[in-house]
Amino acid sequence: MKLPFSQACENNKDPILGVLEVAFANASQVLEVGSGTGQHAVYFAKKLSHLEWQASDQPEYLPGVKARIEKEGVPGQPLPVEFDVFQSGPDGQFDALFTANTCHIMPQEGVEALFNHLGDKLKSVKLLCIYGPFNDNGHFTSDSNRAFDQSLRTRDSQMGIRDKQWIAKLASQHGFHLKNTHTMPANNQLLEFQR
Ligand SMILES: C[S@@+](CC[C@H](N)C(=O)[O-])C[C@H]1O[C@@H](n2cnc3c(N)ncnc32)[C@H](O)[C@@H]1O
Repeated sequence: MKLPFSQACENNKDPILGVLEVAFANASQVLEVGSGTGQHAVYFAKKLSHLEWQASDQPEYLPGVKARIEKEGVPGQPLPVEFDVFQSGPDGQFDALFTANTCHIMPQEGVEALFNHLGDKLKSVKLLCIYGPFNDNGHFTSDSNRAFDQSLRTRDSQMGIRDKQWIAKLASQHGFHLKNTHTMPANNQLLEFQR
């Protein structure tokens, strides 16, 4: 099969890696939520070889992620598991969770559902890195993010750029504190939480 491809992933994988090398230095089992094309999954599994990287996504994305891992993954890399945040969480003792460009795609209730998993089946997760565009106290951080938000909402009224403070509040309800806000290229941020 032709592997799904995202140019954004190619552009952002090295800046994200720079943060994960430090943030996940002591992690061993990472769950990725919304793996999409699988590009991040194979790249981070290769570059962060002390980690086991478990990709996951909604059912329709799994064939593409699976094909990429089979073709480009590190030896022994687990195949992706199904995880829709509105359904039950995956099995496994994960100590870290990574997700990129998902919070503005899933509805707000989806982000809340993801955090509810962190208070339930994913209680073992202590490190959390969330990458994407975020607003700051209700304000867009750039004109391009404002335009992107508009295009998302036109596509689906439930999509939209979320507020960093809203995410931090949800996280705090499950014992996480915002350790760092990393400024990333193209008006993105990486929110690094710990509990
Ligand atoms: C824009 S893509 C990002 C994919 C990849 N992480 C990246 O950075 O390129 C959005 C991702 O969010 C995932 N997503 C949306 N709703 C979801 C849900 N309810 N549960 C799990 N993942 C969801 C999609 O399946 C998709 O993989």
